[in-house]
Amino acid sequence: MTEKSELIARAQEVMRRNDRGHYTVPTHGLYPFQWNWDSALSALGFSHFDEARAWTEIDTLFAHQWEDGMVPHIIFHEQDDGYFPGPEVWATGRETPTTGITQPPVAGFAMHRLFERAKDKTLAEKHARALLPRVHAWHEWFFRCRDPQGTGLVAVIHPWETGRDNSVDWDAAFERVPTDGVQPFTRRDTQHANPAHRPTDEQYKRYIYLVQLFRSLGWDNSKLHDASPFQMVDPGFNAILARSCHDLADQADTLDEPAIAARSRAFATKATAAMDTLWSDVHGQHLCLDRTTNTLTDSPSIGGILTVFAPIHSTRARALKERIETLSTSCEYLVPSHDPTTPEFDGLRYWRGPVWLIVNYMIADGLERAGQTEMAERIMADCLRLIHESGFAEYYDPITAEGCGGGHFTWTAAMVIEILRTHEVMA
Ligand code: GLC
Repeated sequence: MTEKSELIARAQEVMRRNDRGHYTVPTHGLYPFQWNWDSALSALGFSHFDEARAWTEIDTLFAHQWEDGMVPHIIFHEQDDGYFPGPEVWATGRETPTTGITQPPVAGFAMHRLFERAKDKTLAEKHARALLPRVHAWHEWFFRCRDPQGTGLVAVIHPWETGRDNSVDWDAAFERVPTDGVQPFTRRDTQHANPAHRPTDEQYKRYIYLVQLFRSLGWDNSKLHDASPFQMVDPGFNAILARSCHDLADQADTLDEPAIAARSRAFATKATAAMDTLWSDVHGQHLCLDRTTNTLTDSPSIGGILTVFAPIHSTRARALKERIETLSTSCEYLVPSHDPTTPEFDGLRYWRGPVWLIVNYMIADGLERAGQTEMAERIMADCLRLIHESGFAEYYDPITAEGCGGGHFTWTAAMVIEILRTHEVMA
């Protein structure tokens, strides 16, 4: 076996180990259910060795879509007491329990990519045709429920929606989320992973405060946005949505669905133009907008670099490449989730500094589309160097390469397969 095929085999083994038949868990123990964007990105890994299984992953996710169009962030397929907050805390009243918030809408991008590369075109068309209106309904939901003023950009109402749970980006806004009335609880995450790598107890209380508030409003999405004390316009999240709308438009063209194509293209164009209002010349990247105060958050995180994943202008893409070049002078492995030169940086704590392969993959993909191939390849090579150093971890310290969080991680393994099968990069 070559080194490359051996690495792919090891990655497949991780994915198989976390495969529950019709969905995968992100990792055993810490995350025992189906997570939204984990599934969409993991499907890319499956597509290289089992196309049918790749489609099933996304189909299962959308089988639990809410009637209003939302696709939940977790689907609790099985009972598992090792996770908090479980279904009884969310109390969304779904037959198969789910949470009541969402996650980055990367499924539109993923399904389009699966379709484009499919060897079995009949199978691909069958699944893509069924998924198209569902993914579109999710996008419609976003612009209806999370952009009530029609700005072109959507807000998240809980940090967990961003997928970047404890990013520095939320600190200031999160201060305004109260903790009074939070029912006592016992965290489970710190029993599976090193507490020093996880969000703090204070943050957890605020996470739960928001869940209790939304639950008290009956999970009615026509109310939640305006009622939430946390309304954040995350550039990375919006970039993922814009890219998915853009790709869904292409997919709709291929499947001869002109109405969905036109609407999706309009969403993508408007979002991409609006994203420019989040640009910071000082930081050379995009920033979050706190919608409750209408101010940009002075926090140079990876959320404002992931914007290169959207169909943004090439001058912005070039500036973002330069920004990554600057970051590379203060770390060993690209791309840190927070600027290592800032006092808030913490190379071990989740989204406050560590490198995540899924984000790297999306950044590299965006750079490549914009013609910035050298930097894209450098980022992908760093992903493989991290795997060589520390295996298929959840995330990595960008300076020491220490593998952190959960081990045998599904989407990390999926990204390794994806990179090795589509590029000639080696560590
Ligand atoms: C953590 C991550 C989130 C991910 C989930 C499952 O909550 O922050 O992005 O989806 O774990 O892997």
